[in-house]
Amino acid sequence: MRRHGHGGGRPDSPLEPIERASAEELRALQLERLRWSVAHAYANVASYRAKCEAAGVVPQDLAALADLRHFPFTLKDDLRAHYPFGMFAVPRERLARLHASSGTTGRPTVVGYTQADIDTWAGLVARSIRAAGGRPGDIVHVAYGYGLFTGGLGAHYGAERLGCTVVPMSGGQTQKQVQLICDLKPDIIMVTPSYMLAIADEFERQGLDPAASSLRIGIFGAEPWTEGLRADIERRLGIEALDIYGLSEVMGPGVASECAQARGGLTVWEDHFYPEIIDPVSGAVLPDGAQGELVFTTLTKEALPLVRYRTRDLTRLLPPGARPMRRMARITGRSDDMLIIRGVNVFPTQIEAVLLEIAGLSPHYQLEVSREGHLDELAVHVECVPGTDPGTPPREQLRRTLELSIKERIGVSARVSVREPGALERSAGKAQRVIDHRRAR
Ligand code: DLL
Repeated sequence: MRRHGHGGGRPDSPLEPIERASAEELRALQLERLRWSVAHAYANVASYRAKCEAAGVVPQDLAALADLRHFPFTLKDDLRAHYPFGMFAVPRERLARLHASSGTTGRPTVVGYTQADIDTWAGLVARSIRAAGGRPGDIVHVAYGYGLFTGGLGAHYGAERLGCTVVPMSGGQTQKQVQLICDLKPDIIMVTPSYMLAIADEFERQGLDPAASSLRIGIFGAEPWTEGLRADIERRLGIEALDIYGLSEVMGPGVASECAQARGGLTVWEDHFYPEIIDPVSGAVLPDGAQGELVFTTLTKEALPLVRYRTRDLTRLLPPGARPMRRMARITGRSDDMLIIRGVNVFPTQIEAVLLEIAGLSPHYQLEVSREGHLDELAVHVECVPGTDPGTPPREQLRRTLELSIKERIGVSARVSVREPGALERSAGKAQRVIDHRRAR
């Protein structure tokens, strides 16, 4: 049964003043902070100053928010080129913490925080948990990985800040996840949506009904997921499932988060991050509502101020919902994750959406791409649900149905293989959705 997402009977904490501000107040604060942040990066990050000089702009050119479009972008490659500490705007001694994101190739990207940055981050994750319906006194089970990844510690400090009781479980040890959920009775779980599925499977494997657990709310992010998966998770676990977004370079989790009262878009915490959507090819700023690449400028970060950081994430900006800040649509995918199969663009989330509509298939999937001769071949590996339901069509029929739907809805031919339940490898964090043998060459 679906529990009520708001409150769980515990008293609410008040909204922050900026969450109740007018659009004008928010824009004025953003402009003031933007001027500070760009001047801070210009004065203290030599490589960014050099880019500005080459582009012929100085921080004083920022008379209005829209003037930001004249400033140069910052790329992940800039962070790599100045690895590990070259992009920091404060002396190393002022850094309270480092995190790193692994990336698939080469050097990791190292990010750093002053104590004030850590405090801001905790405040924004607390705001995000509260927006999802969390309240002081709730028990929060954190199953994002702890360590260099920002998920675990980011969620942890935020939950503590809100006044919650935190269970710092981290990722992995799936049986123990189930045991602790059963014994400690958390109200909220914070985890990647793919690992939530693995935990739900483990409940069932032990003969337990995941919907009977104490959980009321799930706060899911760190990887793309679909509305179909949300519906599936909510049904199976009897919780309200909300989306949280972030990236280490910009901060970590809590850059944007979904409000329980305004689902269908994540509120961007615009008092700390200024979003733009650009055309990924030309770099031109696109109007609100247009789909493109998300770009962020940090407004308050001391250690690693980033001006116009290109996230590679694809989305669009939406009007405000329950707060004065704009929202962003669910991320469709990263431009780097887009597969081009015989000229057709395919995102893993499109396959997820199609397969979730077919009764009898589970939401675990993996895509494998190879090239045979001059032709790209897409293989889609999925699992059938445990065969308890006599109405479940046989595997051969599931295979044909999925191949047809992919062809009709996405426009590519794929070879589908339907495996037995549990056959595909589970990840305890971000799922690896694509194995691209073409990249290995
Ligand atoms: O994944 C931070 C995070 C932790 C966010 C926990 C939410 C929850 P990175 O490891 O640097 O940081 O990866 C950032 O993950 O650019 C997106 O491509 C993807 N991503 C993060 N959140 C979402 C989301 C963390 N809600 C990269 N939906 C980002 C889709 C997401 N993709």
